Amino acid sequence: MNTRTDHLVNGVDLSIDFAGIKSPNPFWLASAPPTDKAYNVERAYRAGWGGVVWKTLGEDPPAVNVSSRYSAHFGKNREVLGFNNIELITDRSLAINLEEIARVKRDWPDRALIVSIMVPCEEAAWQHILPLVEATGADGIELNLGCPHGMPERGMGAAVGQNPDLIEQVARWCKQYYSKPVIVKLTPNITDIRVAAQAALRGGADAVSLINTINSITSIDLDNMVAKPTVGQQSTHGGYCGSAVKPIALNMVAEIARDAPTRDLPISGIGGISDWRDAAEFVALGAGSVQVCTAAMLHGFRIVEEMKDGLSRWMAEQGYRSLDEFSGKAVANTTDWKHLDMNFKTIAHIDQDKCISCGRCYIACEDTSHQSIAQLIDASGARRYEVIEEECVGCNLCQITCPVQDCISMLPQQTGKPYMSWDQDPRNPFRQAS
Ligand SMILES: Cc1cc2nc3c(=O)[nH]c(=O)nc-3n(C[C@H](O)[C@H](O)[C@H](O)COP(=O)(O)O)c2cc1C
Ligand code: SF4
Ligand code: SF4
Repeated sequence: MNTRTDHLVNGVDLSIDFAGIKSPNPFWLASAPPTDKAYNVERAYRAGWGGVVWKTLGEDPPAVNVSSRYSAHFGKNREVLGFNNIELITDRSLAINLEEIARVKRDWPDRALIVSIMVPCEEAAWQHILPLVEATGADGIELNLGCPHGMPERGMGAAVGQNPDLIEQVARWCKQYYSKPVIVKLTPNITDIRVAAQAALRGGADAVSLINTINSITSIDLDNMVAKPTVGQQSTHGGYCGSAVKPIALNMVAEIARDAPTRDLPISGIGGISDWRDAAEFVALGAGSVQVCTAAMLHGFRIVEEMKDGLSRWMAEQGYRSLDEFSGKAVANTTDWKHLDMNFKTIAHIDQDKCISCGRCYIACEDTSHQSIAQLIDASGARRYEVIEEECVGCNLCQITCPVQDCISMLPQQTGKPYMSWDQDPRNPFRQAS
């Protein structure tokens, strides 16, 4: 039954020790339908996932779900940019889940198996469930303090995750009644994620994971005047995830990794991870493992093959032999605006051999930026676009708008001026004379 997965992929060691939880690779499935039961989890392990966070367990009687449940925010070519759900935690009994978890862990000892839990914010509830979970032999627990719908109304999920005192309290109970690593999963539906992470740390958490889903309404059925997904003639807000949330998740991970009190707190990065590059970005910002939900739901478990292959190839090219060698490397370069170099200057350059003369960059800069691209029309009527270097402020808009890969480059300029922060800038009206 058990098929071991190699730590070494393309000669690179992908194995991790995340807050004491060992995994052959950093790719875990996040707590959600892909980790709902033994059948899915075993398929995932067979496909090569390093670990899973089991779909959130709760007290009996199990939650009851509605029909329908999902909706999406589509791009112009029907690609799914963001995904929305109104599901609750597991709708299977605690006993069945615990029995399956114990069996799967026994049969797959080399994979990480973390159990997600959400019970009422009462000591007795945690005291009751934690020994049952401990008895399964699972490697650790993840506290779902972030479920944005259905559960907050019952005093669970985001209702706890939005209150730092309760986060600390629940983490403390878990450390008291459970002996293995405790990961606190944070909700992004909060103003300052650092406050929540600090509370988890104060409560004794071994790690945090983020993000859970973001409150959302993806679209409205205008014929019936109801949001999607519809349940009869009604709808409700859901939780947003998938590719569109990656930038929000990356920032929140960076906030925690940069914050002095939580700098050394292990982070499991979640949110919009769809390929190896997304995963590498989370690791560069300090994540020690990554979790995936939507990409697996849309494309199946085999996406992990490309993730492991791509990440290990890139690491080999860069000379990294293990994840530790680049984990957190981008954190020091992520700073507050006031520390940026006011003397740095970059300007756009158009590669005329690649340009297809579509004029998009010109319109963008002319209408909404700094009127720094000239539209030149020769005698034959052919259009040519050139950057007016003296006017360009280096905003990147033209490069973002251009449909041709690498046609517009941003070229750093030699200004000969030294680094100057905003605090040192004479144009700063609040500058302190040093
Ligand atoms: C249908 C669905 C159900 C989910 N259920 C849970 C859950 O039971 N517990 C939990 O902690 N997170 C749950 N999540 C959130 C995911 O674990 C994850 O945090 C989120 O989807 C962001 O990752 P992604 O962008 O890779 O999907 C669910 C997400 C989806 C789409
Ligand atoms: S970088 Fe900005 S200012 Fe410069 S040419 Fe492009 S759009 Fe215009
Ligand atoms: S957007 Fe790109 S391809 Fe189009 S005119 Fe500008 S540089 Fe050329």
